[in-house]
Amino acid sequence: MVPDQAAALLPGWEARADIVVVGSGVAGLTCAADAAAAGRSVLLVSKDAVDEGSTRWAQGGVAVVWGDRADPGSDSVAAHLADTVTAGAGLVDEAAAASILTDGPDAVRRLVAHGARFDGDPSGLLLRTREGGHHADRVIHAGGDATGAEIERALLAQLRGGLAGAPEPVVLADHLALDVLLDPTGRVGGLSVLGPDGRIGVVRAAAVVLATGGAGHLFAASTNPAVATADGWAMALRAGAELADVEFLQFHPTVLWTGPDGSGRRPLVTEAVRGEGAVLIDATGARIMPGVHPLADLAPRDVVSLAVTRRLALAPGGVGDHAYLDATGIPAATFHRRFPTVTAACAAAGIDPTRQPIPVAPAAHYACGGVRTDRDGRTSVPGLFAVGEVARTGLHGANRLASNSLLEGLVMGERAAEAANAAVVAAQRWSLQCAELLLTPAPAADPAGRAGLQAAMSAHAGIGRDAAGLAGTAALAAVVADTAPSSGRALDRDAVETANLAVAARAVLAAAAARTESRGCHVRTDHPEPDAAQAVSRTVRLIDGRPAVPTALAGV
Ligand code: FAD
Ligand code: SIN
Repeated sequence: MVPDQAAALLPGWEARADIVVVGSGVAGLTCAADAAAAGRSVLLVSKDAVDEGSTRWAQGGVAVVWGDRADPGSDSVAAHLADTVTAGAGLVDEAAAASILTDGPDAVRRLVAHGARFDGDPSGLLLRTREGGHHADRVIHAGGDATGAEIERALLAQLRGGLAGAPEPVVLADHLALDVLLDPTGRVGGLSVLGPDGRIGVVRAAAVVLATGGAGHLFAASTNPAVATADGWAMALRAGAELADVEFLQFHPTVLWTGPDGSGRRPLVTEAVRGEGAVLIDATGARIMPGVHPLADLAPRDVVSLAVTRRLALAPGGVGDHAYLDATGIPAATFHRRFPTVTAACAAAGIDPTRQPIPVAPAAHYACGGVRTDRDGRTSVPGLFAVGEVARTGLHGANRLASNSLLEGLVMGERAAEAANAAVVAAQRWSLQCAELLLTPAPAADPAGRAGLQAAMSAHAGIGRDAAGLAGTAALAAVVADTAPSSGRALDRDAVETANLAVAARAVLAAAAARTESRGCHVRTDHPEPDAAQAVSRTVRLIDGRPAVPTALAGV
């Protein structure tokens, strides 16, 4: 505990709800709406504006076997599963994946019934495109390349008045969740929260659902918005839950490159541009993907990002810093209609993608692993749930198939609402709601360490890792974790996020060091091949206060 913050541990206010949902992206909003519709009092906590998660930035679409007459006939959930398993490089939990993909179409239909509008043709059939690793056109989209914004809009509208008489969840925007609070038996009893006024509050609840999204800001450059600081992983670890597969951090190969110093959130150039015919080329104009994989530019994402990284390393004069996406073969009118978000991002950078190749480079994009849950979002801590990108259900394995995450957020958000509801009923039966809560010190680390840690993660824990680089970065992360904010500084979001990033980095680095092979998104230059004996998920949990890999567990 940081001594200066001892006073801050005494809560300034207390509130009560049946269920607290942390995060207002696709997973959190779906869960909150369903739990409220079931009659529960729900408090939704979001550390920024409610729409400021990855969801609203999602471009390509939702991978789903829609099953109407526009389907080419060859598609099926079994085929979607096969593509998911192949992309996942040996670590997909096939039973979990099959159940999520099977429930996908109905979850999307409910979203449409709640008002989400996907792009259709004049006869009303939904349009679909293809993305990396898919063998069928099964990605539906909205607003061309603004799918996430439409999903976020529809879910927020549902929450604010579309719950058919059920009480609306109370939304606490600009409030940072600090820690899951347990009772003396180890069961969840609530959540501590830091408000914009600097006061700490405690919300008592029988169930806490972490829907905190990704971890992109472990790295210097990411497609993720600034909120993606792995807070949910850190909170789950501190509460005693396990992470799994966190070494598999997916880099997107086509992130707009605007100069060597690009950092923070970087604009994405959706994979769907390749689905419509664009190809990756290097600085000499030579194509990158033919000969690398039978699906060439539409190979699974880990394969494309690695191929681009390798081509850049072979660039004349050393390591090149960007490649190009040549979309000039797509007619201008089609490009502008289909990709308004990409068009705008390119225009802001002075690029006309219909006339010149778009400069691109890989950047951190998606966390394939996360808080280990069962098929209903339950973690190993009673009363604690995790859904969406923060969670690891087994759907993604070592590399997520494109556009499977929005679908997972919808399906798992619904399931977790039901499971959390059951947890509330059980808590009421056992009168646990008035239990004593164990207050924990607020997490905080010196924000001055954040940029250096992100730079080290980019240099040593991105695409291409080795034992020495991982160990050096782990040592740095330990220092950042142990460096308290300077005396007198008030507890703030930056300090909490830095502490969470340091814990999460140590978890990733421990898992990456333990995996002495290359598989999916995890590329070891000192162990370049996959090792069949390591085709198992690994867990990370806190041991003596630091993230460690206790064992390799088959079937997690
Ligand atoms: P998010 O939408 O990220 O929401 C997380 C929420 O948690 C936010 O509200 C945040 O403020 C809140 N939060 C975090 N920490 C705290 C805390 N400590 N206290 C309080 N609140 C907190 N996937 C697809 O399937 N298809 C796509 O086309 C696609 N395109 C993408 C494009 C981009 C640019 C990006 C970044 C991602 C894309 N993805 C896509 C991935 C997908 O968007 C995300 O995985 C998904 O939206 C995550 O949803 P979520 O609900 O889990 O989290
Ligand atoms: C994209 O549109 O390229 C991103 C899709 C995804 O991350 O699933």
